[in-house]
Amino acid sequence: MSVLIKNGRIITAADDYIADIFIEGETISAIGKDLPIKADMTIDASGKLVFPGGIDPHVHLAMPFMGTFSSDTHETGTRAALHGGTTTVIDFVLQKQGHSLKEALADWNSRAKGTTVGDYSFHMAITDFNENTKAEIREMVENEGITSFKTFMAYKGALMIDDSQMIGLMQEVKKQGGMVTVHATNGDVIDYLVAKHKSEGKTAPLYHYLSQPEVTEAEASGRFADMADYTGVPGYIVHMTCEGALNAVRNATRRNQKVFVETCIQYLVLDASLYEQNFEGAKWVMSPPLREKKDQESLWAGINQGLIQVVATDHCPFMWEQKLMGKDDFSKIPNGHPAIENRMELLYSEGVDKGKITLNKYVEVACTNPAKIFGMFPRKGTIAIGSDADIVIFDPNETHTLSAKTHHMNVDYSGYEGWELTGKVKTVLLRGQMAIDDNKCLIDRGYGQFIKRSKVSGKI
Ligand code: URP
Ligand code: ZN
Ligand code: ZN
Repeated sequence: MSVLIKNGRIITAADDYIADIFIEGETISAIGKDLPIKADMTIDASGKLVFPGGIDPHVHLAMPFMGTFSSDTHETGTRAALHGGTTTVIDFVLQKQGHSLKEALADWNSRAKGTTVGDYSFHMAITDFNENTKAEIREMVENEGITSFKTFMAYKGALMIDDSQMIGLMQEVKKQGGMVTVHATNGDVIDYLVAKHKSEGKTAPLYHYLSQPEVTEAEASGRFADMADYTGVPGYIVHMTCEGALNAVRNATRRNQKVFVETCIQYLVLDASLYEQNFEGAKWVMSPPLREKKDQESLWAGINQGLIQVVATDHCPFMWEQKLMGKDDFSKIPNGHPAIENRMELLYSEGVDKGKITLNKYVEVACTNPAKIFGMFPRKGTIAIGSDADIVIFDPNETHTLSAKTHHMNVDYSGYEGWELTGKVKTVLLRGQMAIDDNKCLIDRGYGQFIKRSKVSGKI
């Protein structure tokens, strides 16, 4: 099967030009002006932008968490991602404390293999670092193509590891050529504040926010950067929300250290005033919580300063009924928010269309950097000869409204209900197959491939 995309405005992290793209099978085989080639299918992309497929390196699909499961499966979540222009996601496998990484991987494979619609990979979350776990790190990197290891400095008793485990893990991951990623908030301080608020009878979602002040994230981000510097391991901080944490990374650059930073679309466009509305605020109960307007400004600036390399989602949806588990106690509201389908369009509308970032920066943070940082480039994350033909054809002028009534995520509310966006995903190709056209998904469950990733250098 061959496809010719004609006359689109091709945007990569570095380029911006009008040309044709010729695809043979799963990969791009030629790019040029007025290519004199006949194909099985021709798509006219005149007047449209043509991006590489989006990569969301932070999603939680069918994840057991806080006494329930996130509501998007690998099937529904990756299908929704494709509708929004994201062709590859990286999901998190969670080691169970007292159990092996192998067992955890088998558990996740039992849900993901044969059901996933879009391409996917896994991070391995280390919740119990010991001699047995240590021996498995090499196997994950060498045999499974899993080269990033997630840690939690919060969620004590469930996911959190302490600093002695963190240092041991960093040394081993460095040795094996991987990367350590982190949920960087101070779990002990948060647990103290949660208990204090509850003992004072403060049970509304607002107190979720007030139990995780900026200092808890700034302190942990600095501590993580220091430990990564000491061990020399490539480090990546997930879902950064605030100025204080960004300043910790800015400080690390003074010793010429590179700590990669990811923020998520919600922290760029939503703020903590949403918690001021009784239980409705549970829709945005996530960790870390939404912050202040000044933090949004710092994050947009951080993207343009090159301190933040990635905009992800931390997609972790729960049905409203699941959120109601915390109706009388904010600490029981399952943490997470749906955005896997909305990231690319929100970032375009709020970022590019409103003049906060350039088109090239948009592709860099949503497609190219995630591929480079996590060992998938140049197969993924760009439009180039030899790359997978993961391509988004985007109308920059079409306006549309976000709503739970029309989205494809398996969740019965939207964090962005009624938002009017400029710019819409029209057509998506995944490895040369037409995956989405005019709001319809044209590929089946099981089409999604597991992407084995290479070792990482910690440089891009
Ligand atoms: O609230 C969140 N972020 N839920 C998912 C788990 C995590 O911390 O990333
Ligand atoms: Zn987290
Ligand atoms: Zn997460």
